[in-house]
Amino acid sequence: MTANVRGSGPIGQSIIDRDALSLSPSSAREYPLVVEKAQGSEIWDLDGKRYIDFMAGVAVLNVGHRHPYVVDKVREQLDKFWHICLADFYYPQAITLAEKLQAIAPMDDTLIYFGNSGTEAVEAALKLAMFHTGRSKFLGFMGSFHGRTLGSLSFTSSKSVQRARYQEGVKVYHAPFPDPYRPLLNTVDGEDAGDAVINYIEQELFRTIVSPTDIAGVLVEPIQGEGGYVIPAANFFPRLRELCDKYDILLIADEIQSGAGRTGKWWATAHEEIEPDIVCFAKGIGSGMPIGGILSRRELNSWGPGSHGSTYGGNPIAAVSALATIEVIEKEGLLEQASETGEYILDALAEIMTRHHTIGDIRGRGLMIGIEFVKDKEGKQRNPEIREKVIMDAFESGLLLIPCGPNSIRMTPALNISRELVDDGLMIFESALTRVEKSI
Ligand SMILES: Cc1ncc(COP(=O)(O)O)c(C=O)c1O
Repeated sequence: MTANVRGSGPIGQSIIDRDALSLSPSSAREYPLVVEKAQGSEIWDLDGKRYIDFMAGVAVLNVGHRHPYVVDKVREQLDKFWHICLADFYYPQAITLAEKLQAIAPMDDTLIYFGNSGTEAVEAALKLAMFHTGRSKFLGFMGSFHGRTLGSLSFTSSKSVQRARYQEGVKVYHAPFPDPYRPLLNTVDGEDAGDAVINYIEQELFRTIVSPTDIAGVLVEPIQGEGGYVIPAANFFPRLRELCDKYDILLIADEIQSGAGRTGKWWATAHEEIEPDIVCFAKGIGSGMPIGGILSRRELNSWGPGSHGSTYGGNPIAAVSALATIEVIEKEGLLEQASETGEYILDALAEIMTRHHTIGDIRGRGLMIGIEFVKDKEGKQRNPEIREKVIMDAFESGLLLIPCGPNSIRMTPALNISRELVDDGLMIFESALTRVEKSI
């Protein structure tokens, strides 16, 4: 993204110019937002312009920017100590957080491992699965995003540019994701897109390409995030759980984007009524402090000291931030609020959709909401052009949205966003869409 977009003022522009001279160009910026300060669900840029935040730092700020309770807890910890290394020593902050995570885990009797990011959480899950099963191959899904280090990148397949020129670090067999709006596989009577994918894995992949006895785990997002906010067909997860049980394959849920209450439940797998074996968490759990990790069934932890570790994982500042975030979600009833606000937004979008021929599909759980743009509703041809223009127009009009998938927009505000800001944001969104539709 470069200069001359309405909305990036002169001070912001000078920062963007310096960025181009000093930072590696590998990041793909959405638009020229240069942040000065943020509070709750509002952000101000360096030129003094205010924005409504419908993206929460890419689904990270689940209790909003700088929640006062989280700020207090982090400040208190800053006055005690910042770092000692959990891989070598002990401190209560990380243990209290681990106990809290055990209490909200989607399965009984778990142990916790802490790293610093989503991709590290995935790496830990892969290593644990390999260590425990003695197997080294995995199943993944097309359209998924699990991170950018070489193990997680072996699964990531939301955009081929992310994989270009890199060698796979882990052997992964990709199956189509059971997208009910755009199923890649044919379904037979009485079965849905989820059944079709499981049949493909068991009857084709396992028969011809890889033996299930070589598969350590299957890594899957309960709702595909970067891939387009795709909610899988209903039969998928129950059938996947059965498949894993049948062949002793570990079911690894990547809840890095969908977890920490984002969908109105602590973990999105709870909507599917299945229990994973390992859960990867990061993003929303720490309110922006770098923390990630895995929850895993206790008996899987057959690895011993030295098998895995991290200098900063479970850092005390990040740990208190995460604990405070979970406490805020509990005390302020934010799971319920996320469900209610999510339904409110989906209802509003359903109405907006009747007025706009370019919205092909809307879908969501809690505050993980996707809007897919098409050229026409029947043909469903993807319409990335309108998506880009709507995001840019909304940005210029004071609303922060971000894309997902080839032609969708995601709405992921903080779980505690006010109804007033939601209404204002939806109004800006529809005005932007109306303008863009007229212009093309
Ligand atoms: C589902 C999912 N997994 C993994 C990651 C990688 O997380 P990180 O960028 O913290 O490494 C992301 C980030 O967007 C994600 O959405």
